[in-house]
Amino acid sequence: MDLTYNEHNQLALQDIPLTELQETYGTPLFVYDENHIRNQCRRFHQSLKNSGVEYTVSYASKAFSSIQLFRIMNEENMGLDVVSDGELYTALKAGFPAEHIHFHGNNKTNEEIRYALEAGIGLFVVDSLSEVDRIDALANGPVDVLLRVNPGVEAHTHEFIQTGQEDSKFGLSLLHGLALKGIRKIEASRHLNLKGIHFHIGSQIFGTEGTTATIKKVIHWLNDHDIHIEKLNIGGGFSIQYTDEDVRYPIEDAIKEITDTLRSVCEEVDYPLPELMMEPGRAIVGEAGITLYTVGTIKDIPNTNTYVSIDGGMSDNIRTSLYDAKYTVKLANRRTEDQLIRTTIAGKLCESGDIIAKDISLPHVEAGDLLCVLATGAYHYSMASNYNQMRKPAVVFVKDGQHRLVIKRQSFEDLVANDVM
Ligand code: LLP
Repeated sequence: MDLTYNEHNQLALQDIPLTELQETYGTPLFVYDENHIRNQCRRFHQSLKNSGVEYTVSYASKAFSSIQLFRIMNEENMGLDVVSDGELYTALKAGFPAEHIHFHGNNKTNEEIRYALEAGIGLFVVDSLSEVDRIDALANGPVDVLLRVNPGVEAHTHEFIQTGQEDSKFGLSLLHGLALKGIRKIEASRHLNLKGIHFHIGSQIFGTEGTTATIKKVIHWLNDHDIHIEKLNIGGGFSIQYTDEDVRYPIEDAIKEITDTLRSVCEEVDYPLPELMMEPGRAIVGEAGITLYTVGTIKDIPNTNTYVSIDGGMSDNIRTSLYDAKYTVKLANRRTEDQLIRTTIAGKLCESGDIIAKDISLPHVEAGDLLCVLATGAYHYSMASNYNQMRKPAVVFVKDGQHRLVIKRQSFEDLVANDVM
């Protein structure tokens, strides 16, 4: 991301001082570098093209859904992964081509299935045995599906964002014969066409060990059961760097290891090379986004901690309280060589756990200073809430040195729009 201190010692994104964005749009504010988002999409495409395998890369819209973003995804030749009727609605509203959308979810409602069928989406990712019956009953013609399997592989990441272990609500497990039952049920259905297999072992995974082990396991399993597929969807999960402690694992290296593994295991058992599908979310938008906050109250508790409170909190960043996530925070309105002090950045919501960054090192800050939290582009706005009747912040995109509003800040009227008077 093109974020540097300018000649006035202010942090600037593509030469726009963040203070200018603060003055124009107010804080809290989500700011995305659109060039960075587009570049991430292009890196996926380029690496997959270089590998020579047939592929589709889709954006996992749960990371951040917005009409303007979905238009960019379409321009960058990305497919779209949705998990709810709301995400599908937003995508269709953006004019996203339905045939490039696939629908996930462990409990799709009949209304969602009907809506997706009417819209003409490309694929359903079937997650349970009963879903086969429900889609079959609701469809009037052929429906292409992938079956989500639970491969029984544990990814090295936070347990709440791990999904591939045996004891999971997602997919049908290979081990217990449920996946095979799912395949046979799809084959016996009237309308469902089995196009392939899907797995997703977790999110923010460092390295490719878990993914390549799963690819091998799945291809062997398919071969052993004489199941032929056109598409293998390996989910998302590519990690990003929140702090210097996160090791950077380049997309290019990950894709090379994944495609090399796929090729070699298919050659080994003489299995036809399937089209490789992937659906990254965090890796597309995570590092492209930052959050700006204005500092308010400061409390120095002698020999204990300094609490710096900002004008947002767990309503726009739930990840610290939910996953004990770590962030890099920068003082954006001035650069100082002052000594760093132990600081905790607290939100303004009525809960002790409302912390954005605990025990970080920051120079002395004052009320009115502007703070910038890095790598908040994925799972922040999309997980925002109205707790304490906080209004969801605005979202701004910066492209080629120009900024534009893509989501307005919620108004007070928005907060009571659904209340019956
Ligand atoms: N595909 C499936 C089926 C998924 O469940 C997910 C994420 C993705 C793709 C995209 O994964 P990514 O590339 O973004 O890692 N709220 C958590 C993350 C939950 C991820 C849920 N599924 C967080 O803030 O870290």
